[in-house]
Amino acid sequence: MNRLGTLMGAAMLATTAGAAIGQTDPLAPTGQWSIDARGSAPVPPMGWNSWNAFNSDIDETKLLASATALVTTGLAAKGYRYVDIDDGWWLKRRMPDGRLIIRAANFPSAATPDGATSFRPLTDRLHAMGLKAGIYSDIGRNTCGQAYTSNFANQPQGRIDEREVGLYGHVDQDIALFMGAWGFDLLKVDGCGIRAMTPANPHVASGDYRALGPLIDYDTLPDTDIAGVRKLYEAVAVAMARTRPAHDYVFSLCLWGGADVRSWARFVGQMSRTSQDISPDWERMLHNFDSAVRRELYAHPGSWNDPDMLYIGTGAFAADHPVEARTHLTLWAMLSAPLMIGYDLRKLTPALLDILGNRAIIALDQDPAGNQAVLAFDSDTVQILVKTLADGDKAVAIVNRTAAPADAVLTARHMKLRPDTDIALTDLWSGTISRFREEQPLHLAGHETRVFRVRGVAARAQGLYLSEQTGRVNPAVDGIVEPEADPLVHRGVLPWRSTRGDGEHPAYGGWGGARADATPYGQALKLHGVSLANGIGVLANSRIEVKNAGYRRFSAQVGIDDSARDRRMPVRFAVYGDGRLLTQTEPVPYGAVPVAIDADVTGVAIIELVARGAADPRYPDPVAWGEAALDR
Ligand code: GLA
Repeated sequence: MNRLGTLMGAAMLATTAGAAIGQTDPLAPTGQWSIDARGSAPVPPMGWNSWNAFNSDIDETKLLASATALVTTGLAAKGYRYVDIDDGWWLKRRMPDGRLIIRAANFPSAATPDGATSFRPLTDRLHAMGLKAGIYSDIGRNTCGQAYTSNFANQPQGRIDEREVGLYGHVDQDIALFMGAWGFDLLKVDGCGIRAMTPANPHVASGDYRALGPLIDYDTLPDTDIAGVRKLYEAVAVAMARTRPAHDYVFSLCLWGGADVRSWARFVGQMSRTSQDISPDWERMLHNFDSAVRRELYAHPGSWNDPDMLYIGTGAFAADHPVEARTHLTLWAMLSAPLMIGYDLRKLTPALLDILGNRAIIALDQDPAGNQAVLAFDSDTVQILVKTLADGDKAVAIVNRTAAPADAVLTARHMKLRPDTDIALTDLWSGTISRFREEQPLHLAGHETRVFRVRGVAARAQGLYLSEQTGRVNPAVDGIVEPEADPLVHRGVLPWRSTRGDGEHPAYGGWGGARADATPYGQALKLHGVSLANGIGVLANSRIEVKNAGYRRFSAQVGIDDSARDRRMPVRFAVYGDGRLLTQTEPVPYGAVPVAIDADVTGVAIIELVARGAADPRYPDPVAWGEAALDR
């Protein structure tokens, strides 16, 4: 069932990519860049959201106070423009016409003489302030607050059908209302209504809500109807594009890494949650960071990994924890994550404003190249992240995950820079400038992240490795046959459950996805006994799209990675330019000497890298596009 879903997904994907109707081979070249072109998020969206500040206890006064603060503090001018209303805004769904009614007691400007209510006065006001407006819904009949929090403030009221305020069965009507009549610019769509409303849910059993699904079995990925969930979100994307043909909006998917959303979000919306909710705890922040940090090839201009909203200002990231607050913002910026402030901005202090408003850090997040950082060094203690910027500079962050001080050595190699020429480091929190060659020892305080903008001479003299331009590399088909949960994201306590039970076992699908400078299972790339510092690791039966920024030559050393387990079936590597075959290898068996590939890509817009193995393997072997690079 699930397998069939995946295959259907692949076929749909080919259609999304603009391939000829009826095409069934997902590895056939399309000559297209298949990331969703509906919606608009060329850089990660920034703004403010009510949830982390107020939970569901939201009203117009609180919202406008934070919106005003965005403007008066200058945060809006620095990019924080979206003002998003989260759960708690609705009163009910009016029957029989199904129109959603706003809780006008909390949002007085929404009141209308006929009782129909409208958010248009509020969105007009936000727009007049130079801001954008966001709203929240659920893909099922009921919301997360209804599903999980019975003492939730501002629960929808009325009969069962009046309390069904989610999109299910009302997609066209609600989208026309939100994005058309009410003029919102962003819609966040949660998935609790297709996750929690099983017959076993006590609210369902007691007759409070109707059962729906199960579509998502959050704890058991193979029991989730992945294709079914995708179809529901796809219908919303279609309705949004129809309502707003200029595509001037953001569709924010909130499936917490469930339903294998990692594999399809970029074909449907502009940002997609990679984990359960963040909380203002150090461990939880790291957990959310971990859920996105190895997905560097699944974030691109137009569609971003979303490790959840910022908690700067609260708990472990409060004003009296500036080290942790700076780390939180730095990590999100390195991930090219949406930056959504979750703080009551009436309480903003100058110290917090300095952190949230750091232009140099914001610039990393908003860099137009849209390259999510790549892990250049990884351990439980220290991690080194490198992000290639549009002007050729590197951003490098050295993270101390622990509370104890730690030492680290940053090398030219981490940044793919020449070790024998000067490397200039600008410390983005202190502004200090320094230089080094070869390597630079660093000392980190507990929980500290040092982050630098770096200038040096590129090791690749004439071009860039593909792993330095992740925003231009899309594993359109990544070879995964059976979605598996990522076993590396297991840290963290669910704060609302404490340590009750046997721990958290998140089923964040994505294990085996394509990686920069690593195999799909997190090993160093290795062909024929030789480790490769640069390259793309991906499973066989994959098709990678590469946007060519005017380069003339593609080259790589290819083969089945030494870490392969099956090892029986050879893999043929082919390179296409705008849909035409440029070059291909003979089938390469496991253990072979790496095969050199070289292709003239002059004038080519989209390069496709296809690794084709056995027709129907259950677990395709990892392959390496070793040293894959584009040169002038
Ligand atoms: C879910 C989401 C949160 C928030 C709440 C609202 O938990 O993940 O971000 O929107 O629902 O109920």
